[in-house]
Amino acid sequence: MTDQRIQIFADVSELAAAVAQQIVTRAQAAVADHDRFTIALSGGSTPRAVFERLAASPLKEQLPWAKTYVFWGDDRAVPPDHPDSNYRMASESLLQHVPLPKEQIKPILTQCDDLDAAAQHYERVIQSFVPGSPPCFDLILLGMGPDGHTASLFPHSPALTVTNALVTATPVAPLKPHVRRITFTATLINAAAEVVFLVAGADKAGRLAEVLEGPQAPDTLPAQLVRPTNGVLSWMIDQAAAQELKHSYG
Ligand code: 6PG
Repeated sequence: MTDQRIQIFADVSELAAAVAQQIVTRAQAAVADHDRFTIALSGGSTPRAVFERLAASPLKEQLPWAKTYVFWGDDRAVPPDHPDSNYRMASESLLQHVPLPKEQIKPILTQCDDLDAAAQHYERVIQSFVPGSPPCFDLILLGMGPDGHTASLFPHSPALTVTNALVTATPVAPLKPHVRRITFTATLINAAAEVVFLVAGADKAGRLAEVLEGPQAPDTLPAQLVRPTNGVLSWMIDQAAAQELKHSYG
């Protein structure tokens, strides 16, 4: 049963601060409970403000880095030093600035010629570090695109109906950057203890209202596929993205 929570923040700065604090809170609870914190990061641009807060005091000192394992919910099929790489964005804004053991950073093999093999490899890496079957991440951070996609689960994509894999390679993405991706499937996302959707910007407002308040249409609105089986679904949104919501959440 999904426990869904929706929080709306005045602006991107307040939103990023709240998401960063939620990550620290979940990390401390996970380490206290099972001596490990496993997180999958989202890509795009919005998370950068969250990562910069985690890399700065006071949160930097509060997160248990020595017991944290960092994965990516998706990445683009580009080299890790490419401007479009989600790994590069996280490395620049967070990972280079915190005492996280290198062996606990688990990037996707995006340079592999055979992306299906890279997806299968990543699935095995996840299974060897994240407990549970399917593996239960303590926290998966997701964004939502203006088309209602999340991770690299785009509308009408064959990746939406993959049920026999936890990680899959996708066709060339319909949104920039127009490259193939490797992404968690809905099965893996929905096994998480907590999923945090970070959504900001007026360009997301119409689609967000459809996702949260409209009829179920996950083939068109893949973000609707995210319904953690036994976890918490936290929508953390700025006022600009929330402006077309009809219900009040509070
Ligand atoms: C990616 C992301 C993608 C992202 C959304 C929202 O690789 O592009 O994982 O799912 O989260 O496109 O991105 P913004 O939050 O930057 O708008």
